[in-house]
Amino acid sequence: MANKVSVLSGLQWGDEGKGKIVDLLSPEYDIVARYQGGANAGHTIVINGKKHVLHLIPSGIFTQGIICVIGNGTVLDLSALLEEIDLLKIEGIDPENRILISDNAHVIFPYHKIIDVINESEKNKIGTTKRGIGPAYFDKYARRGIRINDFYDETILFEKISNNIEFLKKTFASSAELNSLNADIVFGEAVKIFKNVSRFVSNTQVYLNSQIKNGKSILLEGAQGALLDVDFGTYPYITSSNPTSGGACTGTGIPPNKINDVIGIVKAYTTRVGEGPFPTELFDEAGKKIAQIGNEFGATTGRPRKCGWLDLVALRYACMIDGATELALTKSDVLSDFEYIFACTHYDINGKLTQEFPTNSNVLKTAKPVYKKFLGWKLSLSGISDFNKLDSAFKEYIKFIEDFVEVKIKYISTGPGRDEIIIR
Ligand code: GDP
Ligand code: IMO
Ligand code: MG
Repeated sequence: MANKVSVLSGLQWGDEGKGKIVDLLSPEYDIVARYQGGANAGHTIVINGKKHVLHLIPSGIFTQGIICVIGNGTVLDLSALLEEIDLLKIEGIDPENRILISDNAHVIFPYHKIIDVINESEKNKIGTTKRGIGPAYFDKYARRGIRINDFYDETILFEKISNNIEFLKKTFASSAELNSLNADIVFGEAVKIFKNVSRFVSNTQVYLNSQIKNGKSILLEGAQGALLDVDFGTYPYITSSNPTSGGACTGTGIPPNKINDVIGIVKAYTTRVGEGPFPTELFDEAGKKIAQIGNEFGATTGRPRKCGWLDLVALRYACMIDGATELALTKSDVLSDFEYIFACTHYDINGKLTQEFPTNSNVLKTAKPVYKKFLGWKLSLSGISDFNKLDSAFKEYIKFIEDFVEVKIKYISTGPGRDEIIIR
């Protein structure tokens, strides 16, 4: 089979089950690379009943021989990375010679996390994960950021750190925490942690492109989801990067003409953590039931996820922006016990029906969902691996989604476990 480069990305507000599908598909690839985000992500993989949560390391790490790349588009909390590496070792995974970190990736410093917390106490609360993501990308675009390759000249590194701290002390004069920061200490700790991960550093854009030339296959793993995209999501209630497939190119250095397919991941319903509009959010017993059966708690922060029905207006928009060529539908098993299932096909905005996803969050906040009602399938999906064995009501739900978004659902995940999958 010819080599391929695929992007895998979430099509909702994150937590669609990307980790599980990346782990499942990893054997088809040689390399899995993360292209954006940081330790705000929580990607869960369940192998033989044991749950593993990854924040920075690509979800291909549990597949033997796969090289895991953390691309230039990510923002790296080096202590979180080190913790994750140590945890993997305890779990019996040897990360040596398996991980590559881009020397162009930006580094998250303690002051980024402090600013994240300060920003969250302001009026425009986003409900961030407080992992310093927004402030680190802020520095990147303000050209004040510190990259991995800055660690190779300690004089310049120290100067950059102390300049940044000095600037922050002036900007956030009332923050006792920022004003107590000492550049020598921040520098010393960063250098110490870096020494523990420096052996993984590489020019990953050159590595990835040379591997494509050598006939290797690469899976590009997105974090978060299309509706959290800084350009196309529900701004300002978004993350500060591009989880959509375009971000896979800028976040790895792999050019667009090398991408062969885009695998979009979508939950059979919708969840959201943090603030921002969510047209199909449920406030009734059905919402509570989805949350309970789906065990909808954040894999990074443990916060309860808000739950609602599938939003096909948003999904079609996300498929368009991502250029999804195939879909993986996850967590349909969670809906197995419902008499009726609903999916939003239109928004009612000020009395007008539309199928266009509004670009302005204030408009989206006013959108009332218009639903199509489906008969529930009332059948456990557990253990089913043959599409033909599925209940006709479930097949109807699948067919309706496919026709609506004009993308085939190739994978149907029927549980959290590695093997719980129907492939069509
Ligand atoms: P990610 O961030 O997109 O990787 O998703 P998370 O790991 O944050 O959240 C998805 C949750 O759903 C995890 O607890 C998974 O183990 C679980 N999960 C994934 N696929 C399925 C599925 O098909 N059915 C059920 N019941 N759980 C699933
Ligand atoms: P994975 O990869 C779900 C949300 C936060 C908040 C907003 C901004 O596991 O799908 P940030 O800390 O990024 O500045 O927070 O984005 N968020 C996620 N929601 N899954 C994630 O990642 C998320 N990463 C960030 O809750 O609303
Ligand atoms: Mg997650």
